[in-house]
Amino acid sequence: MRILVLNGPNLNMLGIREPDIYGKSTYADLIKMIGDYCESKGIEVVCKQSNHEGTLVDYIQQAYFEKMDGIIINPGAYTHTSVALLDALKAVQIPTVEVHISDVDSREEFRQISYVSLYAYKTIKGMGFDGYIEAVDSISDIITRAEDK
Ligand code: DQA
Repeated sequence: MRILVLNGPNLNMLGIREPDIYGKSTYADLIKMIGDYCESKGIEVVCKQSNHEGTLVDYIQQAYFEKMDGIIINPGAYTHTSVALLDALKAVQIPTVEVHISDVDSREEFRQISYVSLYAYKTIKGMGFDGYIEAVDSISDIITRAEDK
């Protein structure tokens, strides 16, 4: 099983950006945590981050050509604005789980809409970095169930 973990704008600034909301751990800590967990589960994982919407679209398209089995995405602020990311996910038809570190539902009104959630099987919010672990478990269940069919 091979999955892509895609993080959008400003997530490379974890540990520096608004630590009261996103915590003090860094993006490198996050990637290490995801890598270690996936290794323990025998899942091959590729982690990518970009601050640019088009690059994120390119990464989603590459996942199709590289035959990735699943995508975990935290689109950052593009969650709330990007039809392009939604369309890219719809185009590649790869099972996707959306993650947000913070509880977007209890924040500003403009964070209440997510275009990506119109495609994602599941959206995990407000669990901090643990949300990515939950997302790995969810995506591997979704992929395994699809393979069993
Ligand atoms: C975020 C929530 C978004 O509203 C915000 O723009 C982010 C991070 C989260 O992980 O909680 O950049 O996706």
